[in-house]
Amino acid sequence: MNNETACWAILPAAGIGERFGSNIPKQYVKIADKTILEHALKPFLTNENITGVAVALNSHDDHFSNLQIKTSKQFITTVGGETRAHSVLNALIEIENLLDRSDFVLVHDAARPCLSHQDLNALIENTIDLGVGSILAGPVADTVKRVEGNTIVETIDRSDLWHAYTPQMFRYHLLFTALKKCIDKNISITDEASAIEEIGLKVNVLRGDSAKVKITIPQDLKIAEKFLSVE
Ligand code: CTP
Ligand code: MG
Repeated sequence: MNNETACWAILPAAGIGERFGSNIPKQYVKIADKTILEHALKPFLTNENITGVAVALNSHDDHFSNLQIKTSKQFITTVGGETRAHSVLNALIEIENLLDRSDFVLVHDAARPCLSHQDLNALIENTIDLGVGSILAGPVADTVKRVEGNTIVETIDRSDLWHAYTPQMFRYHLLFTALKKCIDKNISITDEASAIEEIGLKVNVLRGDSAKVKITIPQDLKIAEKFLSVE
């Protein structure tokens, strides 16, 4: 790997977990002895290719300070914003003076606790020489329908459809420009790749199955538990 290029991780963790519906934000729910956020942070805190880690927290967060984050890396927290994109942009602003414009940032959902070192390293190796960036993703396996009300109106050809996971790894200045444009123009996006697409750039995908486990509803915990217990 090119040692000249820094790789910062950003974990947006400022959501309230509305769909999960517990009395604490889902990233603080425990799997085994650790919170989901701690599981999500672990591969970055222990990976030699990662320079530093920034976590965006809700302005009302009263859980993070109870965690014991042990790391020798640069580690900072920042306040998140009204959407995931705002939270990521805030973190980018916070680390602006800690890296070069052409260095990389890897944005990873705090709600994905199962990312393996193997997938993280593969993403970094595959992206480090690219001009723009790439994301972990997986091909769509089920047949996909467009539904209106409760009626199918269309079956969509799934042969070239992929699920976008995280981490999503981009050159700092491109992601900054792309997110700022989407926020300024009120363009709604749910991942970083969409913002990069919005400024007309091409994003690569890399298959990475450990990244697909995302905690959205309580039933997802079982899948994550299984994944983490066989690690
Ligand atoms: N996130 C964030 N800032 C926001 C909204 C979301 O940092 N304003 C983070 C979440 O904490 C999560 C990631 O973005 O780590 C992906 O979002 P999602 O899974 O949708 O989490 P929530 O927004 O918390 O859940 P919900 O949509 O059910 O409320
Ligand atoms: Mg959300």
